[in-house]
Amino acid sequence: MRIGLLGYGVVGKGFFDLVAERTDIQIPRILCRRDIAVEGAEVTHDFRDILQDDTIDTVVELIGGLHPAYEYVTAAMEAGKNVVTANKALLAAYYDELLTLAEQKGVCLRCTAAVGGGIGWLSELERTRRTQRLSHVSGIMNGTCNYILHSMTCLGLDYGQALAQAQELGYAEADPTADVEGFDTWNKLLLSANVALGISLDKESVPVCGISAISAQDVEQFKAHNLICKLIATAKAQDGCVHAYVQPTLCPVGSQQAAVPANYNFITFTGSATGSMSLYGQGAGRYPTAHNVLQDCVDVMQGRSFYCGCGAPAVADNTEALRFYVRGASDAWLEAQREESWADAIVTKPVSVRQMHDWRSKHPGVFIAAVPDSQ
Ligand code: HSE
Repeated sequence: MRIGLLGYGVVGKGFFDLVAERTDIQIPRILCRRDIAVEGAEVTHDFRDILQDDTIDTVVELIGGLHPAYEYVTAAMEAGKNVVTANKALLAAYYDELLTLAEQKGVCLRCTAAVGGGIGWLSELERTRRTQRLSHVSGIMNGTCNYILHSMTCLGLDYGQALAQAQELGYAEADPTADVEGFDTWNKLLLSANVALGISLDKESVPVCGISAISAQDVEQFKAHNLICKLIATAKAQDGCVHAYVQPTLCPVGSQQAAVPANYNFITFTGSATGSMSLYGQGAGRYPTAHNVLQDCVDVMQGRSFYCGCGAPAVADNTEALRFYVRGASDAWLEAQREESWADAIVTKPVSVRQMHDWRSKHPGVFIAAVPDSQ
């Protein structure tokens, strides 16, 4: 396999290092905006140098973002090159189009590192859906948010300090808004739901709420109730409906999710044969993520393309009712939902996920978190 590598950042450099240990894969050309020298490869600023090189059969896209990644990836497939990417935003935005293009052109497209970093989550879903029906995926899918929430809970850091540390460690996206507002998790949930449930989920129907409004006082309040806050993504097929959302969620101390430390991810599927099965590992970071990019390259050498075909269009219903912790604003509607008070926050009786997120979207700066039934 001869690779044109797009991007030489945290993961790109890690991938280059892992490939250097092998004899079956070469990286003759690297696209990089910076003026750098890389031993054994030609570095270019011009994507056409890779596109027009007929000896390159596979493009590995690690620049992230929608543009120009979309233009590069589609041009590569149009030219008959396979594509391996870690770009969840790109796949989530152009899911049907990219899958269809890969199929039409007879090339392979894989994106295992896009969800779970070092965890082989999508490739495990691919295997497991061959033998059973999947009904539910959920879990902690963002290492940056988990690192922040873990540091706030265990070290007593405030939000800003914990975010700065996550950025220093290279976990956060270039713009941490994508992590802390839940958009990165949103993209990962979309991919997971599509592959697991065999659907093509309407992204805009999936509400998302991140962790940027959480305060040290919220965390103390949760600890007083034996709860730990995590950013949880959920998608499930139930009674002919799909429920899918991303939101802070309070997990009982002692539960598996509450115990997930640092930048780790913990993702679970429920299958008709296996019941609930969870994968755990580093969800971000240079070599864990590069490892799954390399896994995809090996799969491509074996002729394996995307994890599933395009599924039927689906819209998230979200009539499921949950209790919520809400701090930062109130009005007549919220007061009518009040079941308890926790200091200056309201804990609601069960309300539909859709109603809660609709209300929150009109009250920016408010912090909400789903509360488990037993509390
Ligand atoms: N910023 C992402 C995270 C990187 O923190 O999980 C891996 O997708």
